Amino acid sequence: MIRHIIAAIAGALTIWAILYMAKLDAEVDRLGMIKEIIAKSQQEVKVKKQPQVQQQPKPQAKEDNEAEKKLKVLKEKAGRLSAFEVSPLYRRNCASCHGINGEGTSIAPKLIGKSSDYIYEQLLAFKSGKRKNYVMYGLLRNLDEEELKALADEIGSFAQKLKEAQ
Ligand code: HEC
Repeated sequence: MIRHIIAAIAGALTIWAILYMAKLDAEVDRLGMIKEIIAKSQQEVKVKKQPQVQQQPKPQAKEDNEAEKKLKVLKEKAGRLSAFEVSPLYRRNCASCHGINGEGTSIAPKLIGKSSDYIYEQLLAFKSGKRKNYVMYGLLRNLDEEELKALADEIGSFAQKLKEAQ
């Protein structure tokens, strides 16, 4: 009787041990699977990244080249359109509306041909608000009288400069 009980317990233990081992195996398997998945995803990321890195420089280089060519053409055009050199102060602040040589645009009137005194008076009038124009007022707010005088003198000399250039 006791032998039977011992045999039964031993059997149960054996079955339990087998089940326990199987469970461990399954966990080890799952760990392995997880590791594999991580490894694969890293490989996939690498595989995905690599062609991007290899492909990107080519179209970018092309675009850069095209942009450079366009810039060159624009610069050449601008160089041809500009009959004489203007100061950086004028080019930066005024040329976009009044034209690179003061020839005027659809936005703002012609300045070339007007006298330095007239231009200076107008600039002071814009700045003080006596002559009302929000665009010119806003622009001149950040320029001091010395700069306005320099601009007026320069613009007043545009007509002469154009004659000399032709
Ligand atoms: C954003 C466009 C714009 C820029 C930039 C600009 N102006 Fe003007 N300017 C105008 C417009 C518009 C008028 C016409 C205002 C009016 O009729 O009262 C004008 C008028 C003038 C006048 C009066 C012309 C006249 O015949 O009475 C002078 C002078 C002048 N601008 C000088 C300048 C100077 C100098 C700069 C650079 C510091 C400059 N402008 C920058 C738009 C601009």
